[in-house]
Amino acid sequence: MSTTHDIRTPALPGVRLRPPTTADAAAIHELVVRSPPLDVNSRYAYLLWCRDFAATSVVAVCEDRLAGFVTGYRPPRDPETWFAWQSAVDPELTRPGLAFAMMAEVAGRARRAGARWFETTVNPGNRAVIMLVRKLARRHGGTPEVSTLFESAELGGGHDPEVLYRFPLADPRD
Ligand SMILES: CC(C)(COP(=O)(O)OP(=O)(O)OC[C@H]1O[C@@H](n2cnc3c(N)ncnc32)[C@H](O)[C@@H]1OP(=O)(O)O)[C@@H](O)C(=O)NCCC(=O)NCCS
Repeated sequence: MSTTHDIRTPALPGVRLRPPTTADAAAIHELVVRSPPLDVNSRYAYLLWCRDFAATSVVAVCEDRLAGFVTGYRPPRDPETWFAWQSAVDPELTRPGLAFAMMAEVAGRARRAGARWFETTVNPGNRAVIMLVRKLARRHGGTPEVSTLFESAELGGGHDPEVLYRFPLADPRD
C-alpha cells in the first residue's frame, strides 16, 4: 500500500519509507520476535504505537512486505527530544544502509517538527546499534553523551542495563 507520505530513497531502490499504520502492527510484532535482543511487547502495544506515535515512527516497505521499522516518541516531559525506542530490519529483506535510512528519515522528520535532541537506549553488547547511533550523531554534527538510564536491577529478569545515548539534533550535514 502506498500513501502520500511515502519516501523513496535513491540509495535503496524498491524501498519505501512511511509512518506506520495499525495495519503494520502484526508484522512489526512478528519482526521483534525474530530480532533478539529486542524486548517483545504485546501486539496490543504495537497497535497503540502505530495509532498514537505514527508521526514519530517509520516503517520500510519492500515488495509490500515490512523490511524494517523504528518506533519513536516525543516524551511529554521533554517534547524537544525525539526518543528512538525500538528498531529492527528483516534479514531476508534488508540491504546495507536500511536501518540508517530509517533513522535518518524519522530523525529529520522529528527535527522539522521541532525536536532538538536525539535519545535512544541500547543494550551495551549491541555493537551494531551503538555504531549506528554514533554514525547518526556524526551526521547531525554531535557526539553522544552516554549514561545508564536503567540498571539491570530496575529492569529485572536478568535484563541488561539500558544505556542512554543523547546528542543534539542539528541540521544534517549532507
Ligand atoms: C541494529 C540493526 C537495526 C542495524 O540494521 P542495518 O540495516 O544492518 O544497519 P545499516 O546497514 O543501516 O548500518 C548503519 C550503520 O550501523 C552500523 N552497523 C550496522 N551493522 C553493524 C555490525 N554488524 N557491526 C558493526 N556496526 C554495524 C555501522 O556503523 C553502519 O554504518 P556503515 O555501514 O557506514 O559502517 C539490525 O542489525 C537489527 O535489526 N538488529 C536486531 C535488532 C536490534 O538490535 N535493534 C536495535 C536495538 S533497538
